[in-house]
Amino acid sequence: MEKYCINGGKPLKGSVTISGAKNAVVAILPAVVLSEGKCRIENIPNIADVTTVLDILSSLGATIRRVNRNTVDIDPTTIYTHVVPHDLARHMRASYYFLGSLLGRFGKARVPMPGGCDFGVRPIDLHLKGFTALGAVNSPLENAMIGVEADRLVGNSIYLDTVSVGATVNIILAAVRARGVTIIENAAKEPHIVDLANFLNSMGADIRGAGTDVVKIHGVEHLDGTTYSIIPDQIEAGTYMAMAVATHGDILVKNVIPKHLESITSKLEEIGATIEEFDEAVRVSCPGPFKHCNIKTMPHPGFPTDMQPQAAVLLALAEGTSILTEGVWDNRFRYVDELRRMGAQVQVDGKVAVFQGVPHLTGAPVKAVDLRAGAAMVIAALAAEGYTEIEEIRHIERGYENIIEKLRGVGADIRRVRIPDSMLRQA
Ligand code: EPZ
Repeated sequence: MEKYCINGGKPLKGSVTISGAKNAVVAILPAVVLSEGKCRIENIPNIADVTTVLDILSSLGATIRRVNRNTVDIDPTTIYTHVVPHDLARHMRASYYFLGSLLGRFGKARVPMPGGCDFGVRPIDLHLKGFTALGAVNSPLENAMIGVEADRLVGNSIYLDTVSVGATVNIILAAVRARGVTIIENAAKEPHIVDLANFLNSMGADIRGAGTDVVKIHGVEHLDGTTYSIIPDQIEAGTYMAMAVATHGDILVKNVIPKHLESITSKLEEIGATIEEFDEAVRVSCPGPFKHCNIKTMPHPGFPTDMQPQAAVLLALAEGTSILTEGVWDNRFRYVDELRRMGAQVQVDGKVAVFQGVPHLTGAPVKAVDLRAGAAMVIAALAAEGYTEIEEIRHIERGYENIIEKLRGVGADIRRVRIPDSMLRQA
């Protein structure tokens, strides 16, 4: 086990290059199952979640060749089973995308209940509602495995009661080779939904409207191989933008799609940042104090829930009172206790957190309770006076490629240190 050791209080300066989007790649790699040819996927972030999805593909029988650090060739024609093994799937949420893709390919799929970050209850009823509308039958949960099966998938209209990224992805995956037309209403509009649709269309699918709340899928008989490059990660970009602000630094965040960052940019500017937009980069600085600000997270194009903990660090340091409302998940404030250890003054009532800004945070031993909460701890540690140790960094490394190297590149004093076994035994 390892931890991050950070000496805070240094303004971060320089440039950082954003990697491929985690939440796009974890949908696109399972989608490869639907192809009848070889696929080359480029701009893949080298993160733990990608390793897990590639391991799942391998276990299904796909032939995988790493071309270089960020490019992978996958031959899905050798896949022979519709059953995803337990030990791999339980590490991440997106393993359930194999439900849609294996159902689309074999007419059946068995996938363990997925893992992932703990935000309270994370139901999958809308995924199953979508599969059922397409003609599939769900078998009762057996040995914590979800089973779906269909003689023939047939297109249908599906209205999502709640906007769900996962259900939108899974229904697209199941519908793309179904007979007839599927219409998803109240669909999620996140950039990774558009990226998945673009990927599938590059293989010969007929998906229209991705990025709006109505997605129309005309089923096709065949999907060919393709070469495709993953979009830049909106949330990784937002995280480095928040780091520039939190440390009163000046960072050029490169390889981004500025349009994807609009809701983040607008709130950071309200807090006091100066943001300059280029074609594929944004420059973020913040010389002055942070102004209080209210933020509510919402599905895209609203302020992303996956930036909520990172934004919280800025509100903890902003003058006056700020209100942060979580509009997507029931329980995404588990990290607040860790922020309090660093001196933040915050009260949580259900889905609302009220921050009374403090002039500075102070280094402390803390832990990453989940992926974005872990990113928030890194931001807090970089901004804080003194020394911070962050444990349980495996959560952070599920989603941030080369975070140590990228941060050192902009002047951060951060190290990854092994925790001796003797210390683990004491804990
Ligand atoms: C995706 O999770 C992301 N994960 C999450 O990012 C992100 O927080 C979330 O979308 C919202 O943007 C991936 O893309 C792998 P949802 P997902 O289905 O698909 C309710 C990160 O940090 N719901 O859009 O699981 C659900 O309870 C991760 O990178 C149902 O009620 O989220 C929630 O309130 C963490 N029934 C809301 O919808 C369902 O069947 C949105 O969830 C499904 C969801």
